[in-house]
Order: sequence, then C-alpha cells, then structure tokens
Amino acid sequence: MTTNHPAIDKILISKDTLQKRVQELAKEISQDYKNTCPVFIGVLKGSVMFLADLMKNTAVDHSVDFLCPSSYAGGTKSTGIVRLLLDLRESIEGKDVLLVEDIVDTGLTMNYLLENLRTRRPRSLEICTLLDKSSCRKVSVPIRYRGFEIPNEFVVGYGLDYRELYRNLPYIGVMKPPKAEKNK
Ligand code: PRP
Repeated sequence: MTTNHPAIDKILISKDTLQKRVQELAKEISQDYKNTCPVFIGVLKGSVMFLADLMKNTAVDHSVDFLCPSSYAGGTKSTGIVRLLLDLRESIEGKDVLLVEDIVDTGLTMNYLLENLRTRRPRSLEICTLLDKSSCRKVSVPIRYRGFEIPNEFVVGYGLDYRELYRNLPYIGVMKPPKAEKNK
C-alpha cells in the first residue's frame, strides 16, 4: 500500500487492520481479566495511541498509569542502559499489571521494566505490545499479547516516531531513507 506522505515509503499496517487487531486484543484481555481490575501501564511515549484504542475497546474496569523510560537518543541502543524519566503514580503491589508497549525490538527496554516492576510485588505482570520485531531481539521477554510480528524495517506512525515526528499517522508506515542533513 502506498501513501502520498513525503516521508513514508509504504504502509505496512493500515488503519483498518490496526483497529481490527486492537479490538481482538482488547477482547482477549477483557476475557482474561474479567474477574479482576487490572492496571494498564502505558510506556511513553510510543504507546499512547495503542493504549487509548485498547482502553476504548476493553470491557473490564481498569486503571491507567504511565512510565517513561529514557529513549536511546544519542546512539546508546547497544548499551542497553535504561533509566526511568517518569515513574508510576500509584503502587502496583498486589495488582494485576499489563504493560502496554508500541514495539519490542531488542527487548532491552522491556527487560529493564520487567525487572524494575517485579521488585514492586504486583500480583501478576504481563506484556502487551502492538509490534514485535523479534528478529532484533537481544534479550528474551515473555510477550503475552502481540498485535503484529514485523520485519526489521524502520517504522513510524500510530505512536511511533522518527525524531519525534509522525506519531500522529493513523497507520504503521515504513520510512523512506532519511536524506543526509545539511550542517551536520
Ligand atoms: C521505543 C519503544 C520501546 C523501545 C523498544 O522507545 O517505544 O520503548 O524503543 O526498543 P528495545 O526493545 O530495543 O528496547 P523510544 O526509545 O523510541 O522512545 P519513545 O517511545 O518515546 O518513542
């Protein structure tokens, strides 16, 4: 599928396909958590659109909180060093926690978050990710709910960015190779 957006090479997952899959995931989650009141933890910033659509389609009562890990800006991706820039507001002790991510790539961010959150003694802790780039994994992470397995391409849209842009696109698109920037 093509688009006339100048930065996007092709549409990998259309808006309709995204919405249908999110509804399926929300149905599964609603069933699995029907006897409890889970807390959905959105991992900022990329998860925002997915989280909002997941919430709208989830039938069980649930609360929401947020975490913001440091991003890999500056080329530190291979180090796997992650910090929390924003922590949860509420305690998760004894709660059923669903971590909501836009993408699991190397798994380093999610691995850090899992280790961190486990020390807070939740009753359960599961991962829901929209996208899984498992071919890039460096550390194994147990994904309970997965929207789509995707190839190793740089994707943006539906929350995912390139230099903070394109998060607003309603689809997942593959970027055109960025042009060499002047003055750099
Ligand atoms: C992205 C994504 C995950 C992480 C996945 O965040 O949202 O949090 O990278 O990569 P990994 O599996 O290799 O650790 P990013 O640092 O781009 O920040 P953002 O969500 O604010 O865009």
